[in-house]
Amino acid sequence: MRLAATAAVVLATTGSTMARPTVAKRAITDADILNYALTLEHLEDKFYREGLANFTQQQFADAGYDATFYKNLKEVSYDETTHVSFLTGALTAAGAKPVAECTYAFGVTSVAAFVATASILEGVGVSAYLRAAASIVNKEYLTAAGSILTVESRHSSYLRASFKESPFPQPFDTPLDFDEVYTLAAPFIVSCPSTNAALPVKAFPGLALTASSAPVTSGKTIQFTAKATIEPDAGKDYVYAAWVAVTGPIFTKAYFKTGGIIETTVPAGFHGQSYVVITGCNSSVSDDTVKAGPAIVEVTNSSGSP
Ligand SMILES: *[C@@H]1O[C@H](CO)[C@@H](O)[C@H](O)[C@H]1NC(C)=O
Ligand SMILES: *[C@@H]1O[C@H](CO)[C@@H](O)[C@H](O)[C@H]1NC(C)=O
Ligand SMILES: *[C@@H]1O[C@H](CO)[C@@H](O)[C@H](O)[C@H]1NC(C)=O
Repeated sequence: MRLAATAAVVLATTGSTMARPTVAKRAITDADILNYALTLEHLEDKFYREGLANFTQQQFADAGYDATFYKNLKEVSYDETTHVSFLTGALTAAGAKPVAECTYAFGVTSVAAFVATASILEGVGVSAYLRAAASIVNKEYLTAAGSILTVESRHSSYLRASFKESPFPQPFDTPLDFDEVYTLAAPFIVSCPSTNAALPVKAFPGLALTASSAPVTSGKTIQFTAKATIEPDAGKDYVYAAWVAVTGPIFTKAYFKTGGIIETTVPAGFHGQSYVVITGCNSSVSDDTVKAGPAIVEVTNSSGSP
């Protein structure tokens, strides 16, 4: 990632965002953040328990995963269950009501799909905790969240390495904001107990890379489809793909093709599990400018330098 080059974008972006009055959306509290984290942990916890119930050790072996891998997956599952009980306890101790498990549809029908989805979920978990950390007020919660974040990132590396992806594809992880994470989690959530408090988060229209765009490498032209009709801002016949990075987004122009396809070119400096949102302008990524996404884009050949 080009730190110096992107630093200027961060400053420009922060400036323009702060100049704008905040949209009427209630401020997020520490209890909200813990419940947001718990929402994700419930999803991961159920995902591993269900997958380990769906597939036997023999089925993992038939798919090329040895006994050590299977044992480690059970360990990952145990970690997620423990994160759920830890966050539930912390919320209860703080006098807040912890959210309960929802019902989910993971659409997993093979061991390979299970491991691939696990890897994506762990990557999103890392990005969720990373950004949420900046909004946590209580320092003890911050350390607690950090202690979960580091474990999720080890899960992510282990899973990535299991299918020969770089375990640490770039020098910086990517923070994703609450709405971006919720957009990625929402398609898995079928329904939640009505007693779960509503969190101040929303989902943007979904965005997906087309199957024919893989494998994705720097400089390649790739295509997306959105779960909503995307209109450019007034006076333009294009939109932007904003590539999320800790130092601020990198924008690439994105063009409309037939059949609702949006096309852009992969910028330099992105490796591993990357995130793209479609925006109308190239000055900021915010609730006001995001039209769809994020899409998850695995940028390959990630072990080399930019
Ligand atoms: C478990 O199997 C069911 C039925 O095939 C499937 O719908 C679900 O997505 C699977 N979940 C996992 C995590 O493997
Ligand atoms: C935004 O677009 C304008 C007009 O094409 C261009 O001059 C500017 O460099 C772009 N800024 C970024 C951050 O991409
Ligand atoms: C990765 O790099 C190697 C060596 O430059 C090249 O042969 C290979 O095709 C690349 N893989 C992809 C997916 O672009």
